Amino acid sequence: MSATHDLLMICGSLRAGSTNEALLRTAADVAPDRFNAHFYTGTAALPHFNPDHDVDPLHPAVIELRSMIAAADALLFCTPEYAGGLPGSFKNMLDWTVGGVDIVGKPAAWLNASNAGRGGAAGAHASLRAVLGFTGATLVEDACAHIPVPRSSFGDDGVIRDEELRGQVSNSLGALLDHLTAARDT
Ligand SMILES: Cc1cc2nc3c(=O)[nH]c(=O)nc-3n(C[C@H](O)[C@H](O)[C@H](O)COP(=O)(O)O)c2cc1C
Repeated sequence: MSATHDLLMICGSLRAGSTNEALLRTAADVAPDRFNAHFYTGTAALPHFNPDHDVDPLHPAVIELRSMIAAADALLFCTPEYAGGLPGSFKNMLDWTVGGVDIVGKPAAWLNASNAGRGGAAGAHASLRAVLGFTGATLVEDACAHIPVPRSSFGDDGVIRDEELRGQVSNSLGALLDHLTAARDT
């Protein structure tokens, strides 16, 4: 029997009705059976990052973040761009991962839900790429994709029904699964 993989979804938007969250919810919906999808929802509860506070006893929200990352086999990020870069709350979450060892070597990918109007959120994703490099996560390039999500493409359950978009999400997850399978077999 094939191994299953715990996939932790992390959204950069706190907004109700988020297109980025919809892309992650769709990823959970189309994910192959070999993925167990989990959602990290603690970003807003994290304290402002301060190296002086990155010591025991850690804030419970930091412990939760690092524990969920440690328990995951792979990470899937989806974030909007704010003012040319990453949303502050999302960057704060990423800063808290740097002091922990849980993310080092962890396969990670991003889906970019931006509609291309303002540059396709290229600034945010260049920043995300750089930050993930500092955290020590392993970016799975083949699984990263720009999949523009119209706000009209999903309903109250936040799951996209458009087959073309679902297929693109499925392709990314397939690439992530290929990476995890190859890593396990080497
Ligand atoms: C304060 C603010 C700043 C924004 N800055 C940018 C930006 O620099 N580049 C961009 O492409 N979109 C920008 N946007 C648009 C958001 O990225 C866009 O609305 C996105 O869909 C929000 O993601 P969500 O639907 O997951 O909440 C900005 C939106 C807000 C509210």
